[in-house]
This record gives sequence, C-alpha cells and structure tokens, in this order.
Amino acid sequence: MPAERQAESQGIVTATLPAQTFHVPPTVVEVLGEDERHALREEIKALLVRENAVLVAHYYTDPELQALADETGGHVSDSLDMARFGHEHPASTLVVAGVRFMGETAKILNPEKRVLMPDLKAECSLDLGCPADAFTAFCDQHPDRTVVVYANTSAAVKARADWMVTSGSALDVVRHLKAEGRKILWAPDKYLGHYIQEQTGADMLLWNAACIVHEEFKGRELAELRARHPEAKVLVHPESPPSVIAQADFVGSTSGIIKAVKTLSAREFIVATDKGIFYKIRQAAPDKVLIEAPTAGDSATCRSCGHCPWMAMNGLRKLAAALREGSNEIHVAPEIGRRAVVPITRLLDFSAGQHTVIYGNNDA
Ligand code: 13P
Ligand code: SF4
Repeated sequence: MPAERQAESQGIVTATLPAQTFHVPPTVVEVLGEDERHALREEIKALLVRENAVLVAHYYTDPELQALADETGGHVSDSLDMARFGHEHPASTLVVAGVRFMGETAKILNPEKRVLMPDLKAECSLDLGCPADAFTAFCDQHPDRTVVVYANTSAAVKARADWMVTSGSALDVVRHLKAEGRKILWAPDKYLGHYIQEQTGADMLLWNAACIVHEEFKGRELAELRARHPEAKVLVHPESPPSVIAQADFVGSTSGIIKAVKTLSAREFIVATDKGIFYKIRQAAPDKVLIEAPTAGDSATCRSCGHCPWMAMNGLRKLAAALREGSNEIHVAPEIGRRAVVPITRLLDFSAGQHTVIYGNNDA
C-alpha cells in the first residue's frame, strides 16, 4: 500500500508531496531621508482623499505604512480582519499593504472596488508553494475530503476550496468540521496543519509547503534563549515548526500575539513571528520587554532572519506611485472570483456566527 494511502487509512496526518521550489528575494527595507519621508506621507494623505481610497496594512509591513493607515482612518490588522475591514468600508478604492493574496482576497470580496497594492511582486512562500494545477489534481485524488485552504493562497486555489481559514480561525473551523464527521484535505502550510491536527484530532491530509520566515525559527536555540530568560513567556505563530510550538506559552495569530503581550502579566516575551509586529506590540504594551526568537544556529544562516522579504517590498515610495498612477491594480478573473468568494464568505459568516473575536488596530 503506498505510504499516503496507508497513512490515510489510519486517519493520521501525512505530507507526502514534494515541496515546490521558487525564488526567495532578499529582504530589502526602504530607507528614506527625513525630507522625502515627510513629502511622501503628505502626498499619500492627499491622494487617499482624492482617490476616495482607504489604506489597509498588515502587521508585518513597514511601521511607516502602519502609522499612515492609523492616521488616515485605515486599518492595521491580521489577514482575517483586513478582509473584513475592506469589505465593510465604503471607500471605492482599497489600498492593500501586504502580500498579493491579501489584495486578491480584497478584490474577490469586493469586485466592484478598485484594489491597489504598492508592489504586485509581493508574494508569499505558501502561495508560491501551492500552484493551482497541482493542487487541483491533489484534490481530485481525494474527492471524499472537505478542502480547507489557508488564506495565504492564490484566488485559483481558493476557487477549488470548500473553506478558507486564517491562523486566527483555523482551530474553530476544523473543530466544527470534525464535529460534522468530515475528513479534511488541508493546504498549504504543513506546520499550521500539523498543529491544528494535533489540537483537534481531526483526520487531515496535508499539502507540503511552509512559510520561509516562520520555518526558520529554531527549537534548540529557543530552548537556550529560554534558559537565559526563565521568566519570559514564549509567543509563537502557528506557521512555526513543531519544535518551536512545543515550547510556546501562547500559540496564535498576529492579533492573538499582540493581545497576549497586553493581557499576560509577564514583563518579558520571546516572540516567534515576523519582527514587523513589534511596532504594534510596543504601541499596545510599551512597558513590556520583547525578545526576537532565534532564527539561526551556530552553523546555520537565515534567509529571512525574521522579516518577510515580500512584506518588506511595501514602502512609502511604491505606495505613493500606485495611488498617483493608479498602477498595481489587482485583477481576478470573474469566473475564479465567483468560485473563490464562496470559501471566504463561509469563513466570514462562520466567524460572525461563532462570535469569533476579530481584532484590529489598537484593540488587539
Ligand atoms: P495572520 O493571519 O496571523 O495575520 O498571518 C498572516 C501571515 O502571513 C503570517 O505569516
Ligand atoms: Fe507568507 Fe510567511 Fe511572508 Fe506571511 S511571513 S506572507 S506566510 S512568507
């Protein structure tokens, strides 16, 4: 019996596919002089008004963009709440500072709105690691399974899915599906899938992809760091490897991590997620001490070193250019959009019905 079938018949998690290969760019952060920075900020504020546009930014983007979103009535949040905010806001143009799947989700939910991004090359390793053709073939081989995909996927992959989930909603959705007696095909993040399977006991078949940022957090080095900071609480995003998750005091989405720093009584925190989030954590809890979780051992090197190369492609210069020129517009083929909206809407309705708390801006 092939390994995959054997694993399936025992109802256990398996990941048997070869991982996709793709190019990972270096992480390059925009550096601006004070005069240019000031001029760009003023120009963007005026353009947002002129274009009837609102800025929605992810926690991992440059603090400059997060600050501007806050100041201009926009929103800074996790991927679930970015989708919800863009959907509910009356602006006719949504400017999404984040990575491509976030812009696509905004467009799928709001086909009548214009969606612009600072850089259309801002990808995500999970999206790149799950091409639609190969994914469709995988789904076709397992017609008995409910297809659950992470938000970090292309519109075409979402169009093949029954449910979309985010890190902040995956546990609730999978528990719900398990209670209905469903077997799950999960894509693309094997680490998040493994964590959800462990927590829920659901029967899950996993696609083989990972986040190149979170995958680099190292269990052994984290244990050494914890030994040097015995009072520190460890906060981990569930895209991290099992050896890192196993040491966590809290595992959750970006919003959940901010909330944990704010509400837990500890003074020191070791944070295993993209360091872009430190800006919002410091705003929410200025008296707490934050320590970056280690990404490289003695003999290892890191590729992202704790900051997503694609998130870093968002900067003030590119944001101003997109608004000024109406460039970098997201388009989703209408037929794909009509199918992809189903799993996304299912999640938004489910979250509203479950009263899943959706955090954003400073209320996380
Ligand atoms: P969140 O949904 O927790 O914001 O995560 C999105 C993401 O890309 C994490 O790497
Ligand atoms: Fe994708 Fe990882 Fe970057 Fe998030 S941090 S956008 S999961 S590559």
